[in-house]
Amino acid sequence: MESKAQLTFNGKTYDLPILEGTFGEKAIDISQLRSATGLITYDPGFMSTGSCSSAITFLDGEKGILLYRGIPIEQLAEKSNFIETSFLLIYGHLPTPKELEYFKYHITHHSMVHESIKNLYNGFPNNPHPMAVCSAVVGALATFYQDQLDVQDERDVEITIHRLLAKLPTIAAYSYKKSLGQPLPYPDNSLDYTSNFLKMMFATPCEPYEVDPLIAKVLDVLLILHADHEQNCSTSTVRLVGSSRCNLYASVSAAIYALWGPLHGGANQSVIEMLETIHQDGGDVQKYIKKAKDGDDSFRLMGFGHRVYKNFDPRSKIIKKMTHEILEKLGIHEPLLDIALELEEIALSDEYFIEKKLYPNVDFYSGVIYKALNIPVNMFTVMFAMGRLPGWIAQWKEYQTDPQFKIGRPRQIYNGLDTRDYVPLENRK
Ligand code: SDX
Repeated sequence: MESKAQLTFNGKTYDLPILEGTFGEKAIDISQLRSATGLITYDPGFMSTGSCSSAITFLDGEKGILLYRGIPIEQLAEKSNFIETSFLLIYGHLPTPKELEYFKYHITHHSMVHESIKNLYNGFPNNPHPMAVCSAVVGALATFYQDQLDVQDERDVEITIHRLLAKLPTIAAYSYKKSLGQPLPYPDNSLDYTSNFLKMMFATPCEPYEVDPLIAKVLDVLLILHADHEQNCSTSTVRLVGSSRCNLYASVSAAIYALWGPLHGGANQSVIEMLETIHQDGGDVQKYIKKAKDGDDSFRLMGFGHRVYKNFDPRSKIIKKMTHEILEKLGIHEPLLDIALELEEIALSDEYFIEKKLYPNVDFYSGVIYKALNIPVNMFTVMFAMGRLPGWIAQWKEYQTDPQFKIGRPRQIYNGLDTRDYVPLENRK
């Protein structure tokens, strides 16, 4: 493999170094391109552009491989748990028993939010979208810890990590309880992470509530599967906002908003809404496949396609299997699953989807499971955010200590008007 590329421009040839990682992409290092040639590169949507080097997550879109710190997602889903996986992503190694105990203790004992936070919920209109609430409240956390926001102080960063992981489930559950007009519950420190979340979501002060361990386990695996995914839209957001040395609360708040979009994490809500529409429309799957293929129709098969995966999304394979298992164990017949399976079967044998390499992504089946767990549809993307939180934290933290750290400030090609003079108001027609 050549260690350089050559660019010839205006009769001059320039050597550009080639960067290689452990495996995967190989890159042309263009960091000195403009100073050497006066040229910039142009790549809307970053189709061919690497923004950083990272040791956190590796994915191979052609082979459908996903590794967190080198460990295959399939092994973590089977053998690990969300808190341990969060530690792995953030600190780079599987925790020792002592490290895990310390991490778990601090996450458990930061799960309450300041009582004043509850006033924020009273300020929202009825039934606000929980993604807007979660992003706003996470951002507001920065006002409660103003003396511990130094992004270059290890202790400040550590306690912020504990607070975010501990409080997001509480903040998320509050957004749901508020929409029901029910009292905002307190976390239960005797429960594990997902059991505590489920109890805050579904318990009421009027009667005892037992968490179903099967549901807690399924939720834990779903959080693991969503925990990180290298430089996706919301993770690139958390890095870019953090590149101004902005605190982690604000950077995560921005990432939650980025995830909300229907082309990104918001797709899990759009998938269920799409399946419901098809179901209401008599289950006519072919009609919607046709619409998805029609270039003049803005309809897209939500939950299909991916910027990187041009083969199966390994997460989707695991979630699809879990969906069948959980529905069978809970004795649920879900017509939307039948529609999803039919959609997948037809799409995967259709020339359009084959040619464009469109496969089910992580969002295609996750909504069916969340529905079976009685998670309300408008909370699906909040579940994605809860899962992705350790990934955002890990990526933000990695960039803060990156030897090549710089504030992110892309250039542009200007295609506006040439220089012209101001026209006084009286001379404008
Ligand atoms: C996530 O990046 C990540 O890692 C994201 C994520 C993570 O874990 O962080 O994996 C999570 O966001 C998964 C994606 C969820 N989004 C959806 O399911 C929405 C539906 N999918 C698409 O809109 C689309 O596939 C994207 C946004 C996911 C990817 O967009 P790209 O890479 O920019 O590809 P594209 O939109 O340019 O599509 C390429 C072609 C286009 O046709 P042409 O313009 O070439 O003719 O494929 C077509 C698209 O029209 N196409 C689809 C389609 N997705 C792409 N056609 C029909 N249905 C679809 N779902």
